[in-house]
Amino acid sequence: MANDTNRFQAIISHCKEYGFIFPSSEIYDGLSAVYDYGQYGSELKKNIRDYWWKSMTQLQENIVGIDAAIFMHPTTWKASGHVDGFSDPMIDNKDSKKRYRVDHLIEARIDELSKEGKNTEADTLQAQLDALIAADDLSGLKDLILTQKIKCGVSGTSNWTDVRQFNLMFSTQIGSVSEESSEIYLRPETAQGIFVNFLNVQKTGRMKIPFGIAQIGKAFRNEIVARQFIFRMREFEQMEMQFFIRPGTEDEWYEHWKEARMKWHLSLGIPPAKYRFHDHVKLAFYAKAACDIEYEFPFGFKEVEGIHSRTNHDLSRHQEYSKKKLQYFDPEINQNYIPYVIETSIGLDRTILMVLSEAYAEEDLSTPEKTDSRVVLKFPPRLAPVKLAVLPLTKKDGLPEIAREIMDVCKQQFRCFYEEKDAIGKRYRRMDAIGTPFCVTVDHQTKEDRTVTIRYRDSMQQDRIPIEQIAPLISKAIG
Ligand code: GAP
Repeated sequence: MANDTNRFQAIISHCKEYGFIFPSSEIYDGLSAVYDYGQYGSELKKNIRDYWWKSMTQLQENIVGIDAAIFMHPTTWKASGHVDGFSDPMIDNKDSKKRYRVDHLIEARIDELSKEGKNTEADTLQAQLDALIAADDLSGLKDLILTQKIKCGVSGTSNWTDVRQFNLMFSTQIGSVSEESSEIYLRPETAQGIFVNFLNVQKTGRMKIPFGIAQIGKAFRNEIVARQFIFRMREFEQMEMQFFIRPGTEDEWYEHWKEARMKWHLSLGIPPAKYRFHDHVKLAFYAKAACDIEYEFPFGFKEVEGIHSRTNHDLSRHQEYSKKKLQYFDPEINQNYIPYVIETSIGLDRTILMVLSEAYAEEDLSTPEKTDSRVVLKFPPRLAPVKLAVLPLTKKDGLPEIAREIMDVCKQQFRCFYEEKDAIGKRYRRMDAIGTPFCVTVDHQTKEDRTVTIRYRDSMQQDRIPIEQIAPLISKAIG
């Protein structure tokens, strides 16, 4: 593969060709930054979701999960600061009428400088961008675009408007038109559903601080610049956890969750060199600390997850706006207080893109006798959409009957796929392309001794094992 851009394009095409991800409503030419998961994509998504849920709830005795509604009382978003402050600095090109996120325009220039080997200039520009963003200096950002002679990719001109802030929340109306209707928002993050339920969960679950509430669900942002496939979407899914703690313990819990979340990422089998922490330069006024876990996508290191030390800001604001006390009585120190919060927030779709980027491989299998190659998705077995393919060598001689017996046992335990058609080599390649870690072939020897050939996706090695060993072997591998 020539370069990372080609690799990324190859991953996007592969996702479409093999039923992982399709553009939304494609027969109408799609909808920008909105995608649908197909038959294998939705299995992969579910497996990643379940893996996160298990590690953040079942395996944590002091974290419970909830499922709050997408619609919330509109005052929620006043209190959270999203109505007034959830915006990005944007600039329009007057000739093409195209709108850009200012940080994206300048970051593209930084990438250009790096590619030209002008690393010092790139670093200086990055520092200038960070400082201007931190200071909310909109006219300074425009000056930077002009001094860098950044042009619109469509019109090719530098005829820019002033930089303005645009709110990213989608709004709609609740209630029928004839009734009194009022404006509500599609939630831009799942976290607020956790904050407003803090006392409900604490009291009904008799939770003692420190404890966490986790949630997985859809979030919506009117991203102006739709880029990079499922990396930046308008409708996406978040997996968030708010960990409620005693004030004064936030620094140690922040470090705890940074470490715990990085461990989770490494447990996906992704090498440490592909990750890094990025500390936020611009901290919200209430935040004590914040960082991102970044993964090296084919288009560079980018955020997958955020870890934020948010003080008691959110609960205090909800207490102020709702006029309901959101306090906790701590029996250990005999005091009432509004808990502090450490948040871990990871995008499910971005995690899918990370797992796909890591798994995708094009392998040259040529021998002196013939040229050959394969595309294989080397998913960790527990995340693979299909765990086992059951393949009778021929459609006759009683082989399909034995293969069906194997299916009947195994499909109770994990996702299996049955196929009789085509040469066995072709069937293996199709299973490689969707990342199936194990294939078993039923052949004439199976009739004699009840053994099958098991083929391992990554090594392509084949072993002979008894039929009864198939299910335990795969169950062990998927954990
Ligand atoms: N509650 C905190 C919060 O929402 P965020 O950094 O805005 O923090 C958290 O979002 C995560 O959600 C990000 O790290 C990213 O993985 C995911 N995310 C955010 N916007 C996204 C988008 N437009 N498309 C896909 N994923 C997105």
